[in-house]
Amino acid sequence: MSFPDLLQQDAARVQARLQAALTAQEDVPVVQAMRYALQGGKRLRAFLVLESARLHGIAPDAAVSAAAAVEALHAYSLVHDDLPCMDDDDLRRGLPTVHVKWDEATAVLAGDALQTLAFELLCDPALGPADRRLALVAGLAQASGAQGMVLGQALDIAAETAPVPLTLPEITRLQAGKTGALICFSAEAGAILAAADRAPLRAYATALGLAFQIADDILDVEGCEATTGKRVGKDAEAGKATFVSLLGLEGAKSRAAQLIAEAEAALSPYGARASALIEAARFVISRQS
Ligand code: IPE
Ligand code: IPE
Ligand code: MG
Ligand code: MG
Ligand code: MG
Repeated sequence: MSFPDLLQQDAARVQARLQAALTAQEDVPVVQAMRYALQGGKRLRAFLVLESARLHGIAPDAAVSAAAAVEALHAYSLVHDDLPCMDDDDLRRGLPTVHVKWDEATAVLAGDALQTLAFELLCDPALGPADRRLALVAGLAQASGAQGMVLGQALDIAAETAPVPLTLPEITRLQAGKTGALICFSAEAGAILAAADRAPLRAYATALGLAFQIADDILDVEGCEATTGKRVGKDAEAGKATFVSLLGLEGAKSRAAQLIAEAEAALSPYGARASALIEAARFVISRQS
């Protein structure tokens, strides 16, 4: 199956799991906002979970709750990222952001509940023995908390008003947190489910996550709103610290290409079985959305 078809197939699988998780919930505005925030997206993190599981001989049905958990966590981070006190964005995945469609309180609460939904999904017995589920819970908590995504977001916001521009190591740390940590967890999830060595996938995803955020920063400069589904030109306007702000567009592109080569090299222990993950890495720097 081609990479775009596989990505789409995995996206549909994860969407069904997310919908099922919310059907039993009372149809109040905060749940409607959660459903809304869970629509769309490329579902790359879900793909990484399902593909790293396949790599370890685990069928999609036995990993889909973990893929759904990562997408719920990611959706929460986007709802909060768009809030007026953060990036103040009014467009996400081609639609008005949650705080615009409802209000700020609903967006904060929908984000909170998407985060707890993620951990509830990781408790699904379909994911296997309790010790593996516990390892997933710990891994997702570390990736998304104050040593991971939240740390990166805090550094990102602080950099807007920093008296001097961030250095390359500082920007690398920022991006590794805000985007890298969750991407790393997603790619490691299959190894966690199989209680296998996580090191090759971690090396792959460390490079991939950084390249992913560099591509996001490039799209903010070169992309268009119709394809990205979000406002562009916002990073420079807000004084964000990115690889593009430090290295320029060409420097950022060559750094991203270098990282993709590193990501591919890290998969060599898996041989041809890792071809879909290699394609995913190439997709990350060629994508238009
Ligand atoms: C956007 O993530 C925010 C970042 C972490 C850069 P994605 O580009 O994966 O967003 P969706 O899920 O496809 O909308
Ligand atoms: C957001 O990074 C990262 C997280 C939500 C954790 P950005 O602020 O660059 O993402 P976009 O460009 O709004 O999607
Ligand atoms: Mg942001
Ligand atoms: Mg943003
Ligand atoms: Mg961005």
